Amino acid sequence: MHQDEPMLKNNALKGKTIVVTGGGTGLGKSMASCYSALGANVVITSRKIEVLEAAAAEITKETGQPVHPVACDVRSEEDIEGLLKATLEKFGRVDGLLNNAAGNFISPTERLSAKAFGVIIDIVLKGTVNCTMAFGKHWIKEKQAGTVLNIVTTYASTGSGYVVPSACAKAGVLAMTRSLAVEWAKYNIRFNAIAPGPFPTKGAWDRLVPEPLKDKISMEKRIPLKRVGEHSELSNLASYLMSDFSAYINGEVVTIDGGEWLQGAGQFNQLEAVPAPMWDAIETAIRGKKGSS
Ligand code: HXC
Ligand code: NAP
Repeated sequence: MHQDEPMLKNNALKGKTIVVTGGGTGLGKSMASCYSALGANVVITSRKIEVLEAAAAEITKETGQPVHPVACDVRSEEDIEGLLKATLEKFGRVDGLLNNAAGNFISPTERLSAKAFGVIIDIVLKGTVNCTMAFGKHWIKEKQAGTVLNIVTTYASTGSGYVVPSACAKAGVLAMTRSLAVEWAKYNIRFNAIAPGPFPTKGAWDRLVPEPLKDKISMEKRIPLKRVGEHSELSNLASYLMSDFSAYINGEVVTIDGGEWLQGAGQFNQLEAVPAPMWDAIETAIRGKKGSS
């Protein structure tokens, strides 16, 4: 068995219809493929219909399952109503919403215009709120259970310089995840989040590790496991959290980052840089102080 394979049983998501925002590229496309491989009817959505159509055809070719591409800007309530309608017309029902669409770029915060700050908040926070409200109200009206999975980041909890609009927006998404997990549990609507560390995608790397920075920062070096994530590792987790196998998990955020954020947090983790032979001298120095104070 290899970690690239779907972890869940065949047909674990059969009979479910799952909508994946930002599902035509990167991690959204990988998670949509995994849902499809597990038997789900999948709707992928983003702003670019040509990208969605190509991705849908590619996934269906691999899995034999229907994948429906629908153009929708998550900032537009009207587009989202259209997305919900198109999903119900195509598959007759909807069971899961994966809020994955995002916008981001690195920049010193003082260089940002109000519009630059706002565009990230609008896509990430308001886009997630808009989709969640539309699908949630549908489930409540139909008295039907639903599952919402939100993709955040590890800096949703810690904060991070140079991606401040994204950090503010993802923190808001995390607060909504935990708040509605409690408030809407009575409607059988479950909320969870995943906080990924670095998983290379073109969309993220073009904006977070652009050419002039490529040689200056190494994602791998700061991760205790010394590697970036594999898309299949994230997809398997996202499949479990979308499936009924996780029915009792509600309001949780699962970090999948090879230990990256803790590496930055632990006060003495920098001692990793101490060469092994130096530990003899360090131990001798510490023992030599015994009884001196
Ligand atoms: C400063 C910038 C800028 C930059 C854009 N702006 N890029 N300001 N530095 N690099 C400013 C513009 O000048 C403008 O402000 C405002 O932002 C809006 O820009 P538009 O280009 O008009 O916006 P739009 O076409 O809507 O595009 C949105 C976008 C774009 C977010 C800027 O990058 C995009 O479409 N991204 C979608 C995909 C994406 O970002 N994927 C990465 C997700 S990765 P003014 O005032 O000048 O008009 C991720 C990973 C996190 O989240 C963790 C990783 C480890
Ligand atoms: P990506 O390929 O750029 O994905 C972002 C997606 O969002 C794109 O498909 C984009 O499609 C869509 N999108 C952007 N604005 C939209 C809008 N207004 N309406 C609808 N769709 C919109 O980047 P990714 O790396 O796969 O990121 C996916 C998710 O993982 C994001 O939530 C990101 O924050 C999160 N994440 C990624 C990493 C990483 O290392 N890659 C780490 C932590 C968290 P269109 O341009 O066609 O609209």
